[in-house]
Amino acid sequence: MEHIPLAKTYLDDEIRDLTLEVLDSGQWVKGPQSKAFGSEWAEWCGALAGAPTSNGSTALIAALRLLRIGPGDEVIVPSLTFISSSTCIDQVGATPIFVDVEPEYYTMCPQSVEEAITPSTKAIIAVHLFGQVVDPKIMNLGVPVIEDAAQAHGAEYNGDKVGSLGNLATFSFFPSKNLTVGGDGGALLANSKAHTGILTASTDHGRHQKGEYNFLSSNFRLSEVQCAIGRAQLKHLEKWCQRRREIAEKYSKSFHPNSIPKVRERSKHGWNQYVLKITKPKLFREYMDNCGIDTAIHYSTPTHLQPIYSQHHQSKLGTLPFTEEICKNLVAIPVFPQLTDDEVEYIISSIQAWQSDILA
Ligand SMILES: Cc1ncc(COP(=O)(O)O)c(C=O)c1O
Repeated sequence: MEHIPLAKTYLDDEIRDLTLEVLDSGQWVKGPQSKAFGSEWAEWCGALAGAPTSNGSTALIAALRLLRIGPGDEVIVPSLTFISSSTCIDQVGATPIFVDVEPEYYTMCPQSVEEAITPSTKAIIAVHLFGQVVDPKIMNLGVPVIEDAAQAHGAEYNGDKVGSLGNLATFSFFPSKNLTVGGDGGALLANSKAHTGILTASTDHGRHQKGEYNFLSSNFRLSEVQCAIGRAQLKHLEKWCQRRREIAEKYSKSFHPNSIPKVRERSKHGWNQYVLKITKPKLFREYMDNCGIDTAIHYSTPTHLQPIYSQHHQSKLGTLPFTEEICKNLVAIPVFPQLTDDEVEYIISSIQAWQSDILA
């Protein structure tokens, strides 16, 4: 069996041809591809409006700018996530307030969120971690919600896709995500009329139609070539999400029940990452490496304990017990849609061969 990576990008002749076509057109930014990709992505997710962004991190900054969040404001965010779910808050001068995650689902705990709300709270960044939809109670706490759906393209709650659940939503199209754009990329979606009119402006220097710049932003745009690639990939995304679910289902039937990720009721997981809970992650990863299968730990140091937050009042061990306990035991295995059935069977049998020793 050939080496199996953790993720694989997708490229076909249509994408190669489109890339040249868009380059030949001479319109490299701010053209028809960007406009179409923004609205097609919004439509696919069931949101009101969309704008492509240069990556998922700038989409988060643009979302905070749209909500006019700045110094003195607090934004609630889980600590168990990729660092940019919280550094975007610092980038606009506001303060991240870290909360713990739910033991079963690894997404932010609604009770911790409620307890963290103060008069200074201006938003919640709800991270659909690994593709698991956050508890929908979080959408109804009376505080604006930005869904960080970087890892959750195609995930659903009650038939509604992520991106349509909060006030605003952000996505990343980084090469390991469910949809990619031939480089870094992202998108910002809005679900209220108050934001749709200025959505594109929030990714384009806060530019007003008449050349006025009436709110603070920057250049967070995505190129025309990348938007064209995103549009071409979007035609395959439903099928790819289905394949991810099929593989995840096979895994969950095959591994120890204490190790497998639990899926929230009434939801569909996006399976950007299939993450096992492993008691001896180092040994497991060495073993998988010897089998020729890539794995990754997400996230070995939770955000509130990163050096960048050493001055933060929560930057102490013991403040977020579940996050601190679980973070070292979550190991991602390959779940990308191009995996062949033989590769899936090989991954399953490799893990089963060691299961009794290494799984929780
Ligand atoms: C949960 C989460 N939020 C935000 C981001 C940032 O996206 P990008 O890398 O495109 O800036 C990522 C990227 O992996 C992510 O996983």
